[in-house]
Amino acid sequence: MTQTQPHPTDAAAQAATAQAIREVFESRRSIRQFLPEAIPEADLREMLRLASLAPSAWNAQTWRFAVVQDPAIKEQLQAVAYGQAQVGNAPAVIVVYSDMEDTLQHIEETSHPGMGDAGRTQQRQTFDGTFGAQDVAQRGQWGLAQAYIAFGFLMLAARGLGYDGVPMLGFDPAKLRELLDLPGHVQFAGIFPVGKRANDGFSHHRHSIDRITLWK
Ligand SMILES: Cc1cc2nc3c(=O)[nH]c(=O)nc-3n(C[C@H](O)[C@H](O)[C@H](O)COP(=O)(O)O)c2cc1C
Repeated sequence: MTQTQPHPTDAAAQAATAQAIREVFESRRSIRQFLPEAIPEADLREMLRLASLAPSAWNAQTWRFAVVQDPAIKEQLQAVAYGQAQVGNAPAVIVVYSDMEDTLQHIEETSHPGMGDAGRTQQRQTFDGTFGAQDVAQRGQWGLAQAYIAFGFLMLAARGLGYDGVPMLGFDPAKLRELLDLPGHVQFAGIFPVGKRANDGFSHHRHSIDRITLWK
C-alpha cells in the first residue's frame, strides 16, 4: 500500500481551525456600543480584503466600499440613519454598496488572468449578452445580490480580527448617495458601524434548524 497517510498533526490542526471558525460565527452578534478607539488602517484594509474574497456570479465583484471615519461626516451619516446612535458611536462605519454600471464598464478586469485574452473576450460577451438589454435598475438588483455576499463576509472578517459591529439598512439611501457623492444607480447592501465592543449585546435568538429546513 502506497496510500499517503495523513500527518498525525493534520487532524489536530483541522480541528483547531474548525473550532476557530465556529467561534467567529458564534461570537458575532450585533454590537451597537463601541470603545472610543480608532481602528488601525491595516485592520480596516484586512477586513475589506477578506470581504473581497466573497464569491460572485462570473466573479463580477460588484461590491464597493466607503469607509467613513471623519467625525463630521459620521455625524451626517448618523442623521441619514435616522439618528441611530451606533453610527456616531463607532470609530468607523463601512458602507457596502454595489456599482453594477462600473462593473459592466470594466468587466474585463474580473476575468481570471489564467483565462487569457479569450477569457476576457468571453467575459465581455457574457455580460453584454446578459445585461445589455436590461435597464439600470434591473441589473442593479443583480449587482446588489452579489454585494450582500461580501457584506456577510465582512461581518465575519471583522469578528475574526477582534472587532464587532451591526449591519444596518435603517437609513435613507438617496441621502446617503448624496452624502458620499455617489452616482444615482448604486445600490446599498447596508452600512456597518464597527469597532471594539463596549458591551456584549444580545445573545442569539434563532429558529431551530427543523423549523426552517426541508429534508428531501
Ligand atoms: C439587513 C439588516 C438590516 C439591519 N438594520 C438594522 C438597523 O438599521 N439598526 C439596527 O440597530 N440593527 C439593524 N440590524 C441588526 C438586526 O437587528 C440583528 O442582526 C438581528 O436582530 C439579529 O441579531 P444579531 O445580529 O445579534 O445576531 C439589521 C440586520 C440586518 C441583517
